[in-house]
Amino acid sequence: MSIDLGILRASALALVVAWAAPAGAQGLPGQAMLGRQLFFDTTLSTPPGQACSSCHDPATGFRIPDSRVNLNYGVAVGALPRRVTNRSAPTIAYAAFLPEGPPSAHFQVRSNRKSMGELLFIGGLFWDGRARNLEEQATFPFQNPNEMNDLVHNVGSPELVVEKVRNSAYTDLFRRVYGANVFDQPTHAVFADIVQAIGAYERSPEVSPFTSKFDAYRRRQTRLTQDELDGMRLMTGTWNGLTVGLPYTKNAQCIVCHGIEDHLADGNSMWTFSCYTNIGVPKNPDNPFYAQTDSVTNPVGYNPYGDDYVDFGLGEIIYPINGLPRGNRGPGSNGHGDFLAINGGFKVPTLRNVDKRPHPGFVKAYMHNGAFKSLKEVVHFYNTRNLTTVPGEVIDFTQDDPYAHLQGQPLWPRPEVISPQALLNPTGIPGQDGGELGNLGLTDLEEDHIVAFLKTLTDGFVPEGH
Ligand code: HEC
Ligand code: HEC
Repeated sequence: MSIDLGILRASALALVVAWAAPAGAQGLPGQAMLGRQLFFDTTLSTPPGQACSSCHDPATGFRIPDSRVNLNYGVAVGALPRRVTNRSAPTIAYAAFLPEGPPSAHFQVRSNRKSMGELLFIGGLFWDGRARNLEEQATFPFQNPNEMNDLVHNVGSPELVVEKVRNSAYTDLFRRVYGANVFDQPTHAVFADIVQAIGAYERSPEVSPFTSKFDAYRRRQTRLTQDELDGMRLMTGTWNGLTVGLPYTKNAQCIVCHGIEDHLADGNSMWTFSCYTNIGVPKNPDNPFYAQTDSVTNPVGYNPYGDDYVDFGLGEIIYPINGLPRGNRGPGSNGHGDFLAINGGFKVPTLRNVDKRPHPGFVKAYMHNGAFKSLKEVVHFYNTRNLTTVPGEVIDFTQDDPYAHLQGQPLWPRPEVISPQALLNPTGIPGQDGGELGNLGLTDLEEDHIVAFLKTLTDGFVPEGH
């Protein structure tokens, strides 16, 4: 059986993905205004000094605004400066459009030698989908000891957050939005209002404006340069830059996971299907979380595994929900190992604003662990993940030990999680034996063109004559 996997996967997904409407945007405008105050309020952490925006700054596409932190760590630094998060901070822009969590399973047929079908998980917030929606998500950072650190006796304390808001500069606005007696409510009710307001801001057009050059191009308000056009065509594999069209000279397969819409009538392109997959990103050896092992000073947020820490991604969530250990490996597993093929699977992030930065020399950190520091590096990884220093040699990640018997040196460090079921890439050549990435056959210039196109996804473009 020979089926074009890319198209099959994309079209089947199109049936199951229903984008959530940004409900809050139509709600009280005051709610979003209040949410904005909360989002940028640096007094809400313990000690004061850290706001949501400290890790999600509009100037960087709502990600970490510190170039040195991105370069040296790749993950976020908490309100207590010696603490770090285990993962990088994703954008919050367009998160309002992600389907609600927890990630739900959809059966996906694949014509592959190793398996005829796979479970595809879709929906949820965080790199592993563990938060249901924006409102629930907003309860986490306050109560995370490695983030805003509002804990009392090592237990997350909504009381502490509510107390800080009660003493804030915008209590009048809070009363106007939620009623004069809002602060007479029980703590949990005020806390619910706080996260609802933050959610309303995150759902507002200010956070998801759809004003990139790409959006203007789709609305026929501007043209793309020759390089940008080539990048778009490589990413979609078609001459017209849509999912269906005359095949282009090469197909880098990007939209198989970073999904787009062909018609504006179907909505704006989100550049993600919100599904989870393991693309074989290496460990980030500079992540200070590996050394954050002190259970005495940080009993809730320390890393009990030290250097052996492995981030199983979706496997951190789905197995425990089903009463199995995280990653479901080794002693304590049900003997079936990673039977859902979800370990090392992370949410496919939107590509919108992926290049947004305050100045060209500013470094951003990419992927769940911030291992990559430039878009060129990311694209080069997709292009050559399966290759070694010996021309023509490929690493077959479906083998028990993909690194045995290699003649050359691998071009990339080994994936943080090698999962034969998820890294379906005997050759890495798109369309061949289930290959999607790893051996795309792009030239250096073609990589640059993809990067050029990715830059057109930055919001704030003003078309000429507008
Ligand atoms: C110390 C840095 C830090 C602070 C402060 C912080 N975040 Fe985050 N944020 C992160 C990290 C790291 C992640 C990813 C964590 C994960 O996936 O496990 C994240 C993830 C998110 C996501 C999920 C996005 C997606 O695509 O799934 C949202 C939404 C979000 N944060 C909103 C907020 C809000 C609202 C606040 C303030 C209440 C906040 N953050 C404060 C670091 C931070
Ligand atoms: C098989 C699915 C898949 C394909 C195909 C794919 N991606 Fe991704 N992409 C992902 C996943 C999953 C992540 C996050 C992985 C992680 O953090 O471990 C990601 C992350 C990224 C990031 C980092 C974004 C961020 O916020 O850190 C960029 C940039 C990116 N992809 C661009 C591309 C481009 C360009 C292509 C085509 C050459 C492509 N992707 C093809 C699944 C895919």
